[in-house]
Amino acid sequence: MATEQNGPVVRLDIEGPVATVWLDRPNQLNALNLEMREALADSFKKLNDDPSIRAIVVTGGDKVFAAGADIKLLADKGPEAVRALGFLDLWRPIAESPKPVIAAVSGYALGAGCELALMCDIIVADSTAQFGQPECKLGVMPGAGGSQRLIRAIGKAAASHLLMTGGMLNAERAYTLGLVSELAASGGCLEAARKIAARIATMPPLALAAIKRTLADAADLPLPDALALENQAFLRLFDTQDQKEGMAAFLEKRKPDFKGV
Ligand code: CAA
Repeated sequence: MATEQNGPVVRLDIEGPVATVWLDRPNQLNALNLEMREALADSFKKLNDDPSIRAIVVTGGDKVFAAGADIKLLADKGPEAVRALGFLDLWRPIAESPKPVIAAVSGYALGAGCELALMCDIIVADSTAQFGQPECKLGVMPGAGGSQRLIRAIGKAAASHLLMTGGMLNAERAYTLGLVSELAASGGCLEAARKIAARIATMPPLALAAIKRTLADAADLPLPDALALENQAFLRLFDTQDQKEGMAAFLEKRKPDFKGV
């Protein structure tokens, strides 16, 4: 496994087609300072552009995912100074990654940490995970999807409850609400996430990219428009060699060999 330090606070492990991005600022519970945000954005830009990478896992290790934005960075700033930090641009390579991204959450995923998990396609959690958007306790609110992705993920009542009380969802409750798609035993979520990533990495990349794009682009359209978009994406995939290979392999009772074309 190749390991490289992409800045002192984010690590990147590459194992074949699966990349793992580690938040690594444990003494501050992986609170997202500017250095960490820039290193995260750089890591994702690199992985997004690398055709050999088929799936990305994001983890904070087995103690904490991320306890949110670094409050020290924001405490004395006004709106323009916060805007000038460029958070939205730094989130973009993650939120708009064309690759499947899986969050492996142990411990706290709070504020911007919860927003990071919500940007991922799939969230796997272990029994220690705690999700929350406690921004209201600081006199603010989420600014990078923590209200809008959350309401779409778990519905109005549960999202409002979390956002307005600053409380936390434990792993079991997050799983029941559909925020988390797989629950692992304590300490097991990175392995579980990597297993899912490895399986995803065997799938035809063009089909997965089309699924990801369609889920994102169609989610807020009226149903007839969303269905039309889905059907266009479906039809376009019949123009790929991977569709011919996938269907031929099924009929010939053999394993497909997908090339991403
Ligand atoms: N920003 C800066 N530092 C943080 C931090 C954060 N979000 N979260 C934790 N830390 C630091 C603490 O200051 C402490 O550092 P020192 O040892 O140098 O004092 C260290 O991490 C360990 O934290 P605690 O001692 O507080 O650990 P705990 O186990 O007692 O409590 C916790 C854990 C409940 C997560 C608590 O740390 C906490 O409430 N953190 C803040 C959570 C939060 O409010 N997150 C939202 C931030 S705002 C946001 O994310 C959205 C946005 O863009 C504005």
